[in-house]
Amino acid sequence: MDAVAVKQEDVAALPAGVFAETVTDVQHYTDRLFRFRMTRPESFRFRSGEFVMIGLMVEGKPLFRAYSIASPAWDEELEFFSIKVPDGPLTSHLCDIKVGDTVLMRKKPTGTLVLDALVPGKRLYMFSTGTGIAPFASLIRDPETYEKFEEVILCHTCREVAELKYGFDLVEEIKNHEFLAELVGDKLKHYATVTREDYPFKGRITDLMESGKLYTDLGVPPINPEIDRGMICGSAAMLKDTKELLEKAGLTEGANNKPAEFVIERAFVG
Ligand code: A2P
Repeated sequence: MDAVAVKQEDVAALPAGVFAETVTDVQHYTDRLFRFRMTRPESFRFRSGEFVMIGLMVEGKPLFRAYSIASPAWDEELEFFSIKVPDGPLTSHLCDIKVGDTVLMRKKPTGTLVLDALVPGKRLYMFSTGTGIAPFASLIRDPETYEKFEEVILCHTCREVAELKYGFDLVEEIKNHEFLAELVGDKLKHYATVTREDYPFKGRITDLMESGKLYTDLGVPPINPEIDRGMICGSAAMLKDTKELLEKAGLTEGANNKPAEFVIERAFVG
């Protein structure tokens, strides 16, 4: 049985809260990472940075996992950036999807990595590891980010150089985009580092913050609660360590109902 294909009868039997969308593009970066794009239901609204439940029919049942939406709120399609876990209940099937296949999506987006959860500031840091860059792929393509912040620093750390390509492609796309290019100008800085291969910028972002190399490399002063804001997305350990450093710098964690200086979201896998 093809575990991936969602059949017409499956779609007809879906509960009311589920959309069935068509895959429009798939790109594999490494044996661990891929992105896909799919149609967006006209009625589906979300804020850049939010996540949603994405699923497939696996052995006759819908199976869902949380995925950050990587496309901005204005995009007419939806984009997702995913890890491939060989024995992952969903990703081991999702990594086989092809253009024209059907992917399921629950109707309600949610999440804390939204501009509304931050108090005003001048510089916005986005700290990500691995697929944790996904919500920031959405936010760096949203004009509102640049209306609210004078400078946006996208930090992305991966084990290997090849895993940085999604981020580099994104920044290149923005530079060449018909309306984003001018609006973003030189406000967006991309700081990409690698931990397990040789690369000009090496090390975990947390170590680079502690040593101060991050700030020297960027030519900015160390993090200051008066002007700097942060968003963090990565593994549980990365969230904890980065959060501690931001708190040490004097920033407090915010939420949708209580905006503050930084916000956190787990990068989801499975
Ligand atoms: P490292 O290679 O030193 O473990 P993963 O794929 O395991 O989620 O890791 C993605 C990236 O996040 C890797 O470069 C990894 O570095 C880094 N990383 C893992 N744990 C932490 C942490 N606690 N703080 C900061 N970076 C981390």
